[in-house]
Amino acid sequence: MFKTHKYKIAFVALIAAVTFASIAAISPKEQPRQRNLKVLPKDISHDSLDHLMDYYKVALNVKCGYCHARSASNPKKPDMASDANPIKEVTRKMILMTNEMNDKYINSISHPTSDATPLQLVTCNTCHRGKAKPDVAAIKMHDD
Ligand code: HEC
Ligand code: HEC
Repeated sequence: MFKTHKYKIAFVALIAAVTFASIAAISPKEQPRQRNLKVLPKDISHDSLDHLMDYYKVALNVKCGYCHARSASNPKKPDMASDANPIKEVTRKMILMTNEMNDKYINSISHPTSDATPLQLVTCNTCHRGKAKPDVAAIKMHDD
């Protein structure tokens, strides 16, 4: 009697352990954390998003926290999905502007010369060149 009971408990514990392990293993795929992407493609891969964010960092010479807010519950941690940092919204406008310049204008250029190099697209770095705000002074005309 007692023996069977013990066996039952062990069995239930085993099932629970297996179930827990499989939930832990599949949950990141089955329930992806809701992303807060308003301009980048919603299905962008984790790697591409990572590379893009690193690129912004270098093009503007800033840290992630220049655009991203801290977590409201734990200020030691960043909260990448939060929109509390207004620079994030400026950046969304910048992404849309850059895309539009390429889609509407650069991509419609047919090189008037025999130059066969591929079209050079506009990037953040075309303007920013390692500055959060493009350095206009550096390209001022002599007479102003
Ligand atoms: C120049 C500003 C800027 C910098 C620097 C930047 N980000 Fe972002 N990041 C954004 C914007 C804007 C979005 C939202 C894009 C959208 O709405 O489609 C975003 C979105 C993200 C997301 C998706 C969050 C979610 O789940 O909604 C992650 C993760 C992220 N950034 C990580 C990083 C990391 C890590 C760094 C530093 C290596 C970094 N970012 C640097 C502007 C920036
Ligand atoms: C055609 C030029 C141009 C391109 C391309 C461009 N930017 Fe900008 N960006 C500017 C200018 C000019 C400002 C300054 C506006 C102002 O006076 O606040 C600015 C401001 C910003 C700011 C705010 C900086 C601050 O401290 O206020 C961020 C962030 C930014 N850009 C990110 C980006 C990112 C990321 C990209 C690429 C997706 C990009 N920009 C592409 C011209 C450009």
